[in-house]
Amino acid sequence: HIAFWHNSMYGFNVTEQTFPYDNRPVVPLQYMTFQEWWFHNHLDYPPHPGDFFDFPAGKAATAELACNKGATTWFNSSEGGNIQNGNDPCPGSPPSEYHTTGIDDVKGCAMAIAYESDVRKIKPEDFTVFSVNQTCVWYRFTDFQVPERMPPCPPGGCHCAWFWIHSPDSGGEQIYMNGFQCNITGSTSHVPLAKPKVARRCGADPDHGKPDAVPGNCTYGAKQPLYWLQKEGNNEFDDYIAPPFYNDLYNFKDGAQNDIFVDSYPDGIPLEQKLISEEDLNSAVDHHHHHH
Ligand SMILES: *[C@@H]1O[C@H](CO)[C@@H](O)[C@H](O)[C@H]1NC(C)=O
Ligand SMILES: *[C@@H]1O[C@H](CO)[C@@H](O)[C@H](O)[C@H]1NC(C)=O
Ligand SMILES: *[C@@H]1O[C@H](CO)[C@@H](O)[C@H](O)[C@H]1NC(C)=O
Ligand SMILES: *[C@@H]1O[C@H](CO)[C@@H](O)[C@H](O)[C@H]1NC(C)=O
Ligand SMILES: *[C@@H]1O[C@H](CO)[C@@H](O)[C@H](O)[C@H]1NC(C)=O
Repeated sequence: HIAFWHNSMYGFNVTEQTFPYDNRPVVPLQYMTFQEWWFHNHLDYPPHPGDFFDFPAGKAATAELACNKGATTWFNSSEGGNIQNGNDPCPGSPPSEYHTTGIDDVKGCAMAIAYESDVRKIKPEDFTVFSVNQTCVWYRFTDFQVPERMPPCPPGGCHCAWFWIHSPDSGGEQIYMNGFQCNITGSTSHVPLAKPKVARRCGADPDHGKPDAVPGNCTYGAKQPLYWLQKEGNNEFDDYIAPPFYNDLYNFKDGAQNDIFVDSYPDGIPLEQKLISEEDLNSAVDHHHHHH
């Protein structure tokens, strides 16, 4: 069980006792009402107004992902004190604690952004995934590459959220979401993000009888996070044993998501799909010639 830890987050000081149920930031989310899963139900536990996590345009930001606040830079406000152990996200626990059987079994996690400083105005469809780390969760210090063309945030800053869905190989399925105040620094572009669409399953999936990718089924460009397995508010409806992931399975490439801007696909259709439809067209024409 893992959370993103930073003083810009909602729920930074939430403990096992804060809610009538255990709602610590590391607790996974499954079969919850919208209020329970959205921002981890931590909207009433905001960060201090001036605390932001910065994402530098065109560079990488390093996030701390851990099973316990005590394993991070922020240990001084944790209940159990300093248990930091280098790059280990879960000191004293085996990788099954972060739901993987090994580094070959990690499924990726994502950072999403909403260009809105009033957290109460943000809706799930306002978040766009702008960075993915497919080797996640494995390291406590996880780098997220920031697209060079990220525009500046409004004067009050932006909101971001960290999302994770793990492999089904090591424990029950669930999603993770931790929201925080964020800012884009060093912007050189003012081109806004496109309206994010729902991501579609299109990568190779040999575990479920699909050895080949189906690029024509992908969503290209700006994509919403994967909202799955909740009582309300889902945008993905995959089976419990075949979760959606922040990796090629849902066309979330490793690193910066560089095609999320309004001008990324001037024809509205990505080159990959155009090539595919041209191939289809050509083979249809060949077919036609063969028979006549
Ligand atoms: C969290 O707790 C620490 C230590 O008690 C305190 O200094 C800090 O202001 C708290 N942060 C928030 C956002 O409440
Ligand atoms: C706790 O650690 C954070 C991060 O290093 C630091 O910003 C903060 O000032 C520290 N708080 C106290 C009370 O020492
Ligand atoms: C993912 O994070 C790891 C650990 O910080 C880092 O070595 C790797 O380069 C990151 N991957 C990407 C695509 O940024
Ligand atoms: C966000 O970063 C920009 C560029 O560094 C800065 O001008 C702005 O004041 C920051 N916004 C907040 C809310 O800190
Ligand atoms: C295309 O994507 C949808 C939505 O994710 C999924 O249900 C369907 O199985 C996918 N079809 C193929 C052929 O991959």
